[in-house]
Amino acid sequence: MDEFTYRDGALNAEHMPIAELAEAVGTPFYCYSAATLRHHYNVLDNALSDAGLAERLICYSVKANSNLAVIATLAQLGAGADIVSEGELRRALEAGVPAEKIVFSGVGKTANEMRAALAVGILQFNVESLSEIDLLAETASEMGKTAQIALRVNPDIDAGGHEKISTGKAENKFGIAWEDAERGFAHARALDGVSAIGIDIHIGSQITELAPFRRAFEKIAGLLANLRADGHDIQRLDLGGGLGVPYGRDNDTPPDPAAYAQIIADTLGDSGCTIMLEPGRLIAANAGILVTSVIRTKQGQAKNFMIVDAAMTELMRPTLYDAHHHIAPIAESDAATKQWDVVGPVCETGDYLGLDRALPVLESGALVAIFAAGAYGAVLGSAYNTRLAAPEVLVDGDKWAIVRARPDYQALLAGEQIPDWL
Ligand code: LLP
Repeated sequence: MDEFTYRDGALNAEHMPIAELAEAVGTPFYCYSAATLRHHYNVLDNALSDAGLAERLICYSVKANSNLAVIATLAQLGAGADIVSEGELRRALEAGVPAEKIVFSGVGKTANEMRAALAVGILQFNVESLSEIDLLAETASEMGKTAQIALRVNPDIDAGGHEKISTGKAENKFGIAWEDAERGFAHARALDGVSAIGIDIHIGSQITELAPFRRAFEKIAGLLANLRADGHDIQRLDLGGGLGVPYGRDNDTPPDPAAYAQIIADTLGDSGCTIMLEPGRLIAANAGILVTSVIRTKQGQAKNFMIVDAAMTELMRPTLYDAHHHIAPIAESDAATKQWDVVGPVCETGDYLGLDRALPVLESGALVAIFAAGAYGAVLGSAYNTRLAAPEVLVDGDKWAIVRARPDYQALLAGEQIPDWL
């Protein structure tokens, strides 16, 4: 569900016509809907509640869309944050997420990052190797602190989906190998500075079947029993993110959050542990669109090209993951369609937003929306071809604000210098 709807033939974000925003902000720009963000958070939270999971914490995975206004919208609903860097820690705190609701994930945390997170007293570190546990134990001890840790284990489960976003298979870099998991907990128990109180998994992203989750959670239930038999005081289970979303507008059937919550309840509901989740895409993807203008169309030898002012620099997903995003004009039209490759101005053949799309013939300046771009859109942007990052706009009912401005060229070049010998 999202709040991007056509009224009187024109696309709106909640109560704001997109064309009005485009007039005010210029294209390309990202437009987010606060109501949609809230709706997705509440759907998931209610699903967990309805499944009887009273002790729970949803830590929004900030990497999906780390705009401060987006994080703040979710923080106000009670969301925690799943972070993977000091930068994301700073964002989460600045947006109002209390430190005691922040979990620090990631395979390559440095001592400096650990210190920053320890200093503010985050809830939990999700650790991914024995050497990381050692470094954290040492760092925390030096600061006179004890870090609460969950060991991220790799359950070796194929969750399907694109190989670049699979994380829970044995060949992926993530987590502690399944057969080393119990040894990892024993290792942590022997150290000062860390207290191993949780198990963590995250098996991938854009997962469209529920069966892999069930298999993973069942494995976790088994590990939990073994650890408890061994005297470990496990209090939290962090089940990661990964739930898939519809990208095709009308024809996708994404997994149902209620069925997902029921699987958690069935497999781990009587564990007595707090259930933590780290959803990113589920919350943010359908809460954002990328708005772009047609620069011109051209007929190539074999294809029609619709050249727009957004590019792979704004939305990397189509070229990086062969991802499909629904594309439609802002002004509804029943004119005859042609097949178009919707491409950007960047000098790469991979610079496309959609291939072979049925769209009407559009004039220069016509506005086009690329849907489900709220997660892993703006955050993956780059300045390749010395392009300015697209601004971000948040709509909330009939209010709207620019929540990240388009930089100017001065700002873009500010960090660079020509050395004085040149
Ligand atoms: N927790 C951990 C440890 C993760 O690595 C991720 C995503 C999440 C949570 C959130 O997963 P989600 O609920 O969003 O699926 N750039 C790619 C997706 C990369 C996902 C990385 N990890 C894309 O655009 O499809």
